[in-house]
Amino acid sequence: MKFPDYRGRRMRASEGLRKLVRETRLSPENLIYPLFVTFGKGVRDEISSMPGCARLSVDNLKNEAKEVASLGIPAVILFGIPETKDETGSSALAHDGVVQNAIREIKNAHPSLVVITDVCIDEYTTHGHCGLVSKSGRVLNDPTLEVLAKMALSHAKAGADMVAPSDMMDGRVRAIRLALDAADFTELPIMAYSAKYASGFYGPFREACDSAPQFGDRSTYQMDSANGREALSEASADIEEGADVIMVKPALSYLDVISRLRAEFDMPVAAYNVSGEYSMVKAAAEKGWIDGQRVMMEILLSIKRAGADMILTYHAKEAAKLLS
Ligand code: PBG
Repeated sequence: MKFPDYRGRRMRASEGLRKLVRETRLSPENLIYPLFVTFGKGVRDEISSMPGCARLSVDNLKNEAKEVASLGIPAVILFGIPETKDETGSSALAHDGVVQNAIREIKNAHPSLVVITDVCIDEYTTHGHCGLVSKSGRVLNDPTLEVLAKMALSHAKAGADMVAPSDMMDGRVRAIRLALDAADFTELPIMAYSAKYASGFYGPFREACDSAPQFGDRSTYQMDSANGREALSEASADIEEGADVIMVKPALSYLDVISRLRAEFDMPVAAYNVSGEYSMVKAAAEKGWIDGQRVMMEILLSIKRAGADMILTYHAKEAAKLLS
């Protein structure tokens, strides 16, 4: 159908017509809000590279959770900034660790808010790697699985609704599934960071958590940005191991990967609109170079259009306010 039979402009003539043919709709229900939990009391420590985001102590989380819930956002994901770090990330497993305490607080105050936890030891280790490190500086795969399984289990015991391993060790989903099942958490879902790329877009997050690797980088475990097909292998491995949700991270430079996963698998797909993607929008808006709100909505919509069912984003509260 060519001009003059096809005139794309006919259905763009008014907002009413545009609404009728709109293919993608964003809702607060699609969003997951990341929260940074830290130790101490009464702490609200703004993260300078992520305007609008702060590290909160557990007592300050309740209000935040209340706001998130009242905006119609169904879920938060928790990241911990512990008081002490060591070689093995042992504070990640503590019964009264920052995240474990935060889960109990939030679930107590807002039982219907879904609490997801990030399962990874980089925020808890002195070396800042996502796995245990050998004397020669190699990030060890299989020994790390045991730690991750214990960490996931301690989140489950504290009341988490879903655990999300972000470490990119091979076999972690199975290790976590087995540990959860053995402790009778057979109903607890796993959101796997399946296609997590070694990315420069994590910069502000690492500043927020003080979790930048102290030597080397993450390219022996996180994926190479050049690879799209490999994301399918990663996702199918995770699904076979028992993942309930597969994730692509970052989102914006990997919309093609989101779209491929959506086409290939009948599984819920999540996308992580990461810290650097957020900070770029904030910085450019602050300079008056872009309309921050407009660009934010366009970005979130594009991630949904690419095929994500749910989006982890620091924009969640702001976007939910605009959407309602
Ligand atoms: C690892 C983890 C990271 C992020 C989420 N989980 C950092 C990393 O892999 O270095 C980044 C999230 C973001 O940039 O918003 N625990």
